[in-house]
Formats: sequence, structure tokens, C-alpha cells
Amino acid sequence: MKIGELIQSGDWKGEKHVPVIDAPASVKAGEAVCVKLCVGAEIAHPNTPEHFIAWIKLYFKPAGGKFAVELGELDFNVHGELAVEPKGCLSVKLKESGTLIAVSYCNLHGLWESSAEISVE
Ligand SMILES: [Fe+2]
Repeated sequence: MKIGELIQSGDWKGEKHVPVIDAPASVKAGEAVCVKLCVGAEIAHPNTPEHFIAWIKLYFKPAGGKFAVELGELDFNVHGELAVEPKGCLSVKLKESGTLIAVSYCNLHGLWESSAEISVE
């Protein structure tokens, strides 16, 4: 068993667990850009003490590189009447084109991923 076999995917418009990456398709090298991440953009995911999104991690795989770089993580620590929504932004500076990969974690339904190509000029 490999961890990758446990990471589910799908179309975020129909599957509420899939993390959504909202980033420009093209950015300038070294310029800080906001990569917005969320779960439940189309269909809201529950946010209760029993069922919640715990975190979203963002990775970057350079087109010319072999390994994923972990860029950052958004943690969502309160669920219920007082809650933090599973969304946020990471300000990212890139040097080369590649693939952004987001992984989210639901405490009941496990790991989910999505990716987006980003071009650096
Ligand atoms: Fe869930």
C-alpha cells in the first residue's frame, strides 16, 4: 500500500471534498501571487465537530524538477457554531513553471487532491 493509493480525486464541481486551486495561469518570476485554496466552492462541505476539513496543503512540482516542494498549509482548527471556513490564501513566489498540487483532509472521508498548471514568465 502506498499513500498515493489513498488520495482520492474528482471534479470539484460535483465532489465537495476536492480542493480548489484558484491561481493565475501565468505569473512573473519572483512576483508574489496569491494562491487561493478552498474546499466546497460549489457544494459546501459540513463544518461541525463531527465532520470537518482539517487542512489543505499546497505543493509545487517544478516542470524541470523531480520532487515536490511543500509550499505551505492551511489548518482549520474550530468547527461548529464558532468555525473557521476551509479556505484561505498562500502568497507564493515562483522561479519556474510547474504544477501546483493541493491535498485536503476530511476527518471522515480522508485525503483528496487536485492540481493546476502554472506558467512562469
Ligand atoms: Fe467529508
